[in-house]
Amino acid sequence: MADQPIPLRRILAANAVALAPSAIALAVLYGYGALAGRPALIALAGIAVVTGVLVQRYLGSLARFARFVGELAAEREPAMPRLQFAPATEELAAAAATLSAGWRRQRASIDNLAASAQAIVDGLPDPLIAVDRQRRIVRTNLAAVALLGQAGPDRDLSTALRHPQLLSAVDTLLETGADGNFASAERRAVDLVLAGPPEIDVVAHLQRLPRAAADGSLALIVLHDITAQRRAERMRADFVANASHELKTPIAGLAGFIETLRGPARDDAAARERFLGIMAEQADRMRRLVDDLLTLSRIEQHEHARPAAAVDLDHVLRGVLDLLQLKASSRSVTIELEVAPALAKAVGDHDELTIVFQNLIDNALKYAKPSTAVRVVARPAGQGTISVSVSDEGDGIPAVHLPRLTERFYRVDTARSRQLGGTGLGLAIVKHVVNRHRGRLDIQSTPGRGSTFTITLPAVG
Ligand SMILES: Nc1ncnc2c1ncn2[C@@H]1O[C@H](COP(=O)(O)OP(=O)(O)OP(=O)(O)O)[C@@H](O)[C@H]1O
Ligand SMILES: [Mg+2]
Repeated sequence: MADQPIPLRRILAANAVALAPSAIALAVLYGYGALAGRPALIALAGIAVVTGVLVQRYLGSLARFARFVGELAAEREPAMPRLQFAPATEELAAAAATLSAGWRRQRASIDNLAASAQAIVDGLPDPLIAVDRQRRIVRTNLAAVALLGQAGPDRDLSTALRHPQLLSAVDTLLETGADGNFASAERRAVDLVLAGPPEIDVVAHLQRLPRAAADGSLALIVLHDITAQRRAERMRADFVANASHELKTPIAGLAGFIETLRGPARDDAAARERFLGIMAEQADRMRRLVDDLLTLSRIEQHEHARPAAAVDLDHVLRGVLDLLQLKASSRSVTIELEVAPALAKAVGDHDELTIVFQNLIDNALKYAKPSTAVRVVARPAGQGTISVSVSDEGDGIPAVHLPRLTERFYRVDTARSRQLGGTGLGLAIVKHVVNRHRGRLDIQSTPGRGSTFTITLPAVG
C-alpha cells in the first residue's frame, strides 16, 4: 500500500519542536553579541534543513508503524516495515507482531474448540436443544434440526416443541428462588408423544448446566426416541396374551373331557373312545404350539448370526416334498417341483431352510382348492441370489392382510386356521429364518385365484 501523505500541520509542528532548542540557543548567542545576525540566520537555516529532513523521515517511520499496527489489528499479516529512523519503534513493531500472532493462535484454537464442540453435539444421534435463561433456543444439533426444522435465533422453545408438560418442566428447571438460587433439581425427564406421522414416543431428558455457557445455554433438552422399545414392550405383552389364549382353549377342552369321563361317561365305552380321540387331538395341538414357540425362540436367539453353510436347495425341497406327499394326496393336490439345472447352492442352514419350505408348502396345501396343483420353482434370481417360489391355486389373501401376515398368531381366518390345525406361527418362523439368512420374503396374492410366496436367498460364490 502506498504511503499516505503526512499532514502539513503535523510536519510544521514537529519541525517547530525540533528546531526550537537550536533557535533559542542561536538567539541567546546573538543577544549576548557572541554571534552576528547573518551567521546566526545562516546557522539557523542550515539546522532547519537538516532537522526538516530528519523530522520528515521520522514521521514517515511513525506513519508506517501506525499502519503496521493497524493491519495487525485487522488480522492481516503485514510485512515488517523498515523503521531505521525510529529505532525504538522498530522494537515496538516486533513486539506488536508477536502479540498479534499469539492472539491469532489463541483465536484459532478457540474457533477450533467451538467447531469441535458443535461437531460432537452434531454427532449425537438424539436431538439436542440448548436454551438460555429466558427459554430461548440457543443451539441445536443436526438430529434436532432434522426432527423439528431449523430454529431461528432467539426463538422461544414453544415455537419448536408445543408440549405444555415439557415447557412447564423447563420453566421449573430454570426457576430461581428469592435468593437467586435455582429452586429445583438439576435434571428431570418427561414422557412425550411427538405428533406424526409417524407418531414418536420420546423421553425428554432435561439437564440444567451448573452455570450459563458462553453462548448463554443454561439448560439442555435431549429427546430420546423410545418408539421401538415401546413397540417391543407391547409386542411382548401381546405375545404372552396370544400364547396363553392359544393354550387356554385346548386346556379347557381337556379339562372338560376329563370331567365328563369321570362322571357321566364313566361307563360308556363308546363315548370314552371318542373323547380320548378328541383329547389326543387337543394334546397334539398343544404340542405343535409349544414346538413352534420353541422353534421361534431358538431362531430368534441367534438371528444376528448369519448361517454360512452351502445348502443344496434341490435336496431340501425333495426332502420336504417327501414329508408332505401324504397330505397332498389326501387333499388331491399335486405338487410340481421345478429346479433350474445346475442351480448354485444357497448360503444358509439346511434344517432351518427345511422348516421354511415345509411351512410354505404346508400352507399352500392347506389353502389350495382340491384337485389343483402347487408349484414349487427354484431358479437363479440375479445378483448372486436364488429364488424359490411356492404358488397355489387357493382362495388367495386380501391385500389388507399381506403386511401383517408374518406377525405371530396373525391369521386371515382364525377359525379356519385352527380347524386346519394351524397355530398362526408358521409365517413368523419363516420371516425370522429369512431375516437370519439375510434373504427376502415376497408375498403376492389375488383373492379367488391363489398366492405365491417367494423366498430369495444369497447363492454360494
Ligand atoms: N398359501 C396361502 N393361501 C391363503 N392364505 C394363506 C396362505 N398361507 C398363509 N395364509 C394365511 O396366513 C395365515 C398365517 O399363516 P401361518 O403359516 O403363519 O399360520 P397357519 O398356517 O395358520 O398356522 P401354522 O402355524 O400351523 O403354519 C394363515 O392363517 C392364513 O390365513
Ligand atoms: Mg402355516
